Amino acid sequence: MSRLITVSQNAQSGFTVAIDGPAAAGKGAISRAVAAHFGFAHLDTGLLYRAVGRRVLGGLDPVTAAQSLDPADLVAPDSLRTAQIAEAASRVAVIPEVRAALVDFQRAFARRLGGAVLDGRDIGTVICPAADVKLFVTASPEVRAARRLKELCDNGFETDFATVLADVRARDARDGGRATAPMVPAEDALMLDTSMMAVDEAVAAAIAAVAARRAS
Ligand code: DC
Repeated sequence: MSRLITVSQNAQSGFTVAIDGPAAAGKGAISRAVAAHFGFAHLDTGLLYRAVGRRVLGGLDPVTAAQSLDPADLVAPDSLRTAQIAEAASRVAVIPEVRAALVDFQRAFARRLGGAVLDGRDIGTVICPAADVKLFVTASPEVRAARRLKELCDNGFETDFATVLADVRARDARDGGRATAPMVPAEDALMLDTSMMAVDEAVAAAIAAVAARRAS
């Protein structure tokens, strides 16, 4: 992980947007759009856990995998977006030492000059409790499963709604039920339920929330 930290060693204080929520709620699309709109850098922190998960699937011990994570592990992020790696990521994410190894890199990224958007599960509660804006993006498990099923089918994977829904529920239970840094909304987070929203609407709501905070 020390090699990851050198990547952002020039980081300075900036404007931080924390976006948390469960899988397939839309936080990725919202985070990318907010970052692009305001010219902020964006970090999908799930990729860190996925990269650790992939190394563990390759036979490494989880804590060693997290402590020696390298920028090279994060290139080609699409290769990390498989269901098997998502499951492995969710499992390594319950280990306190794994989470601890990833904290400094995330905080350094959050402070970078020019602003940063970080999305994940514990950004507003643990990584950046003093973030300028906190959003908790959610949607019903059924809506999220339907979105994930479409994404998987579009990418050529063969699965069905019941399997994907069971996977969504299992991940929610693990991410929300773990003892260290569970997925819970920060007390001061703005809740954004995207169940009945088109992506454009959700993006507009998030941009409006950030713009309001920047103007205040
Ligand atoms: O956002 P994602 O689906 O790529 O995340 C994969 C897993 O990583 C997720 O099930 C839980 C874990 N994770 C976490 O515990 N904390 C974060 N900040 C981001 C992801």
